[in-house]
Amino acid sequence: MSAHLIQDEPDTRNVLDRTTQGIIGKPLSRPDGLLKVTGTATYASEYDIEGCLEGVLVTAPFAKGEVTSIDDSSVTGMPGVVAVLNDKRMTPRAIQGTAGEAPHTGLCKVDYWGQPIALVVAETFEQARDAAKHLEIEFNSEDAIFDPAACTPEPDDDPTRQGDLGKAMSDAEHSVDLKFTTESHASAAMEPHAAIAQWDGDTLTVHASLQMLNYNISELADAMKLDESKVRLVARYVGGGFGSKLGVSQDIVAASVATMQLGRPVRVVMSRQQVFQNVMRRSETSQRLRLAVDHHGKLTAFGHEALVSNLPEEDFAEPVLQSSHFLYAGKNRLLQSETARIHRMTAGSVRAPGEAVGMPVLEAAMGELAEKAGIDPVQLRLDNIPTKHPATGKPFGSHKLAECLQRGAEAFGWDGSDRTPRQRREGEWWIGTGMASAARVHNVGEAKARVTLHDDGTAKVETDMTDIGTGTYTILGQIAGEMLGLSQSDVLTELGDTRFPRGPGSGGSWGAASAGSAVFVACEALREEIAQKIGQPVDALTFKDGLVSWDDGSVILADIANGENFTKEGHFEPGDIAEDYTASGFGAFFAEVAVNRWTGETRVRRMTGAFGFGRVLNAKTARSQCLGGMVWCIGSALTESLMFDPTDGHLVNPDLAEYHVPVNRDVPDLDVLLVEERDAVASPIQAKGIGELGMCGGAGAIANAIYNACGARLYVFPMTPDKVLAAMPVD
Ligand code: MOS
Repeated sequence: MSAHLIQDEPDTRNVLDRTTQGIIGKPLSRPDGLLKVTGTATYASEYDIEGCLEGVLVTAPFAKGEVTSIDDSSVTGMPGVVAVLNDKRMTPRAIQGTAGEAPHTGLCKVDYWGQPIALVVAETFEQARDAAKHLEIEFNSEDAIFDPAACTPEPDDDPTRQGDLGKAMSDAEHSVDLKFTTESHASAAMEPHAAIAQWDGDTLTVHASLQMLNYNISELADAMKLDESKVRLVARYVGGGFGSKLGVSQDIVAASVATMQLGRPVRVVMSRQQVFQNVMRRSETSQRLRLAVDHHGKLTAFGHEALVSNLPEEDFAEPVLQSSHFLYAGKNRLLQSETARIHRMTAGSVRAPGEAVGMPVLEAAMGELAEKAGIDPVQLRLDNIPTKHPATGKPFGSHKLAECLQRGAEAFGWDGSDRTPRQRREGEWWIGTGMASAARVHNVGEAKARVTLHDDGTAKVETDMTDIGTGTYTILGQIAGEMLGLSQSDVLTELGDTRFPRGPGSGGSWGAASAGSAVFVACEALREEIAQKIGQPVDALTFKDGLVSWDDGSVILADIANGENFTKEGHFEPGDIAEDYTASGFGAFFAEVAVNRWTGETRVRRMTGAFGFGRVLNAKTARSQCLGGMVWCIGSALTESLMFDPTDGHLVNPDLAEYHVPVNRDVPDLDVLLVEERDAVASPIQAKGIGELGMCGGAGAIANAIYNACGARLYVFPMTPDKVLAAMPVD
């Protein structure tokens, strides 16, 4: 029934290069695409459930302190109101005190503005929303620190120190010592966080918008004090997550508490403002870059330090230095990070946590270093690619940075010979170009998937893996079809239900390689069983178009099943391989911008990205991931910033009108090159993560292009028109 693969060694068999169906890697369209574009895919809040009550969260109108009383009677007489709940499980931070503080005695401890403190449940959404507005609460608020620069940060545990950075800096031919800041980011997923919970007296079923059902089921069972076998989570379609749906959010716990208490189904949907105020933000950062090269253009000093922030006692720290550890060589190294404790909402994972803000800053600093040293910035990168991890000495599984730089430069038409700024003007627009490297660590996780071959010759793939818009439905079906010799339409993929085998969840770009490997393992076991049944070695068989053939015979796949269903569960586990190798995706960005000489407005005119991330499982969905990443690059370079009121800590731009993600008019034609490679270390299917790589560094290419266009060197992301204008030399 079950086949288990633990990867301890590189898998160089490259099985998917020897199969014959010919669909792997092809740009097949999504089987769920039509449902999505016609509005018939059912998202978490859209299930029509009889007798469903509506819950609306009430949130704290202050940043730090405690709620001392909630007057239920202020709303219980209002039309349709069923209950007011203030269960502490709805807001995990409310049940713990902060170290060194007196234990709080109020109803609920508050650590950030907008933290949920109660749930109002009514017959209709409008009634619940109205009552939530009128609920009377009393609270004691305290002073709090909102500015990371205003407190003493905590150092992180394991800084990297090699050689003597200070001496290397002072001895160097050319060096830069630069300080940058980046602002907080929102995940800004299209679908708000939403849940419908149903309690049948024994089992809790929740339809929710989540990325990691395999882990979320444990979180929710733990919060509700239920056995995991009594919890079912369903997330068939997820309208984006970008990290904000990695963990169980307050809407889900609130709906669960309410249904268990009231005995009726309860729906809770966060408003757009609540999503902005409650879900995890990407930390703002301050970073210092110290880089130096010798007269050959080889890096001799590499210093990258970061200050990030989070609430007191939160473990997560934006891993800003993640790819700085291995992207470039340089003997004298210092990498260290600190965390400031402030009362903005919890900081956590937002697409490409770490690299999304660490890489653009590193790449802007590399751009300035290249200028100082008089080296083509592409050449500076090419000359400093390490042959192994500079700190650990571990070899790379595969490494496509050089090829991405070269192919990207060629496709873009890069000319690195004269990088003097302010050379091209069209009317009131300065035109310039810039480039940057891309890097994002590759991760895999334990994953299970079941593959069933039916006696009608079709197959089914089942796992509780989610598809958060990335194309998981498509690629898992494609892997099974390729392995079993079936067309895309003969494989049905079912995802997003904890009744299926546990997948790896969608996060950290590990989904495709991990879930894909579980499907691969199941299919290998099916092929083995079929081979035994036929009496031929599996390597002698060809699986194509529903037919299994060998030297002197063939049989229809449906006939082999002959009234039986063949079912195998594939179980993939990453083994010791991560201890022996470094696995990462690499790439390069090239951007051309126009900067308005009067207003400082920057328009990205074109952008090329070249990415190497192992085997391409589907050229269309992979390309879409790269495009999405590059759009994030434009947003983080030019517009995206959560803004907090410095006096009371509230978020002042909690909606899509004021938090500016790029819209169609902001995004030019983007050119994506998929640089094929096989990484035998990365996974048994030789694929690496691509979800996040496309946004790791590109904002630095835009920063370098702004400088090349108009001569404004900025050390702050996003580079809004006011800041560009202030930094622009006067004509
Ligand atoms: Mo990702 S930020 O791990 O969804």
